[in-house]
Amino acid sequence: GISPRRPVTQDELALHKTREDCWIAFAGKAYNCSPYMDFHPGGGDELMRSAGEDGTELFQKVHRWVNLERILAPCLIGPYRPNVAPSN
Ligand code: HEM
Repeated sequence: GISPRRPVTQDELALHKTREDCWIAFAGKAYNCSPYMDFHPGGGDELMRSAGEDGTELFQKVHRWVNLERILAPCLIGPYRPNVAPSN
């Protein structure tokens, strides 16, 4: 369904790491990947490797030719905001 976009912090993303509630960040955007879980040609287990995390690097390693933005457009939550390391 259509929902308003909103930013997702790294801390919040990390809270969603089950199959039924699986958020993953790719290329600066946070997605709810649960609806795609059963459709992923590589299987749910592969997707779950990045559950609650930034999957950009892993995705690039496996299939950088896949049009992620198009496939996951309905799953977009909003911009991803990684934690900033304290500078002391
Ligand atoms: C295929 C892994 C995320 C779309 C595959 C395959 C693997 C894999 C191993 C090959 C399956 C096979 O042919 O035996 C992963 C991992 C991911 C990930 C580790 C986590 C970062 C995604 C996402 C999408 C996606 C987010 C969609 C936006 C596809 C598609 C294929 C595929 C379309 C089949 C087409 C192709 O291999 O060129 N994936 N995947 N994957 N995955 Fe993923």
